Amino acid sequence: MKSHKLSQQQIQELIDLAFEAREYAYAPYSNFYVGAALLAKNGKIYTGCNIESCSFSPTICAERVAVGKAVSEGEREFVAIAIVSASKDGSDEDSDAAPCGVCRQLLFEFGTDTLVIGAKSKEDYYVMTISDLLPKGFGPMQLVAE
Ligand code: THU
Repeated sequence: MKSHKLSQQQIQELIDLAFEAREYAYAPYSNFYVGAALLAKNGKIYTGCNIESCSFSPTICAERVAVGKAVSEGEREFVAIAIVSASKDGSDEDSDAAPCGVCRQLLFEFGTDTLVIGAKSKEDYYVMTISDLLPKGFGPMQLVAE
C-alpha cells in the first residue's frame, strides 16, 4: 500500500478550508455543524458541509458532499480529507471530528490509503488512513474478478 505524505502547510490549509466550509452547514435539526475539505491528487481541493432535510433521510454528510463535488468534476484519486465538527452547544472542544460509517465506506471506494484529518482546531487534530478507520473494509477490489 502506498502512503501519502502531507506537509504541515497542507494539513493547516485543509483544516482552514474545512472550518470555512462548516460555516455553510445547513443543520437546523441536529444543530451539529460539519465541514470537510478533500484534497485530490492533482492538488485541487473540494469542500463540503452537511445538508439536512426536514424528512431526515435526504440528509447528507459534509464528507459525501465533498466527494460528490470532486467525483462529478472528474476526480477519482484523493490524498486526504480534513473534517471539523461542532457539537450542539456550538463549541468545538468536545467533538473529535470523525467520519460516519457511510462516509468511511465512500472514501474507501476511492483509495484505501486516503488520509483522514479529524480536527478540533488547527493545533489539535489526528491523522489516520481510511484503512485504519475501516479495518477489513469492503472495497471495489472484492467485486472485480482477478
Ligand atoms: N454528519 C456529517 O456531516 N459527517 C459525519 O461524518 C457525521 C455526521 C452530519 C450529518 C447530520 O447532518 C449531523 O452531522 C448529525 O448527524
